[in-house]
Amino acid sequence: MNYRRDPSVSEWDSAHFGVRIATFGPTEERGVTHAVSWAQANEIALLMARCPASRTDLTLSLAKEGFTMMDTFVRYKLDLLAHPEIQAKPGGAAREACQADASEISQLAGEVFANYIGHFHNDPRLPGDTCTDLYAQWARNAFTDTKLARAVLIGVDNARSSWFALLKDHGDGIGEIVLGGVAPEARGQGYYSTLMLHCLMWFQAHNFAIVEIDTQLPNLGIQRVWQRLGFEIFYAGHTFHKWLPV
Ligand SMILES: CC(C)(COP(=O)(O)OP(=O)(O)OC[C@H]1O[C@@H](n2cnc3c(N)ncnc32)[C@H](O)[C@@H]1OP(=O)(O)O)[C@@H](O)C(=O)NCCC(=O)NCCS
Repeated sequence: MNYRRDPSVSEWDSAHFGVRIATFGPTEERGVTHAVSWAQANEIALLMARCPASRTDLTLSLAKEGFTMMDTFVRYKLDLLAHPEIQAKPGGAAREACQADASEISQLAGEVFANYIGHFHNDPRLPGDTCTDLYAQWARNAFTDTKLARAVLIGVDNARSSWFALLKDHGDGIGEIVLGGVAPEARGQGYYSTLMLHCLMWFQAHNFAIVEIDTQLPNLGIQRVWQRLGFEIFYAGHTFHKWLPV
């Protein structure tokens, strides 16, 4: 998800990490200096920025202002209308999760995203456990906040859910797989492609036209899965962090 152009306080992240955090997405070089002045005036401890990987000018301005690159992410999309009906492969069942599953899926999300390679975990000043807990809370909140997810899918062919995915509705027929992964003990057995097929079947059944998804650039294995399913890359971006004295 890209950040808005003008800096604003990220209330949820601030409460979670216990420091004032703000985000912005510069579109021109002077937006960077403006955002830093704004952050100083607003007692922001951590200012996070995102820009397209193609904008070397912004990357250099952010570096000049003391920002450190924390991750590079890539976004893909699939035109569902151009695809015939998608079928799950044999041996992998799934169902839509309900409120009673919230605790199990929250715990699973914490295990799946422990030591993840995203910008939170990559920042040595943010405690690793608190970064991991962010994903656990995100998954838990998805059960009560429809802005976070329209549905949560879980893999159910084991005693314990082997995978989960949060599915978001952006309107206009555009859906997104916003968070998902495979339980550490179930990895390396092809569950990720099972997850993807069930998500795509859900979007097809609910008449979505486009499905988007993003990940960190070094997450190469799952990008191969996406490419085999017909997804195409359309965006690459960087995330930067700058810590300010408060
Ligand atoms: C990444 C992840 C989903 C892979 O799950 P998995 O069930 O082990 O994946 P699969 O067995 O279905 O393999 C899918 C592909 O990824 C590759 N892969 C899996 N783990 C890998 C690893 N650690 N390093 C490199 N490639 C890997 C597999 O070789 C396979 O590619 P191939 O079909 O071209 O051989 C899982 O490790 C995970 O949940 N990680 C943390 C969260 C995450 O990254 N979520 C997705 C993006 S937000």
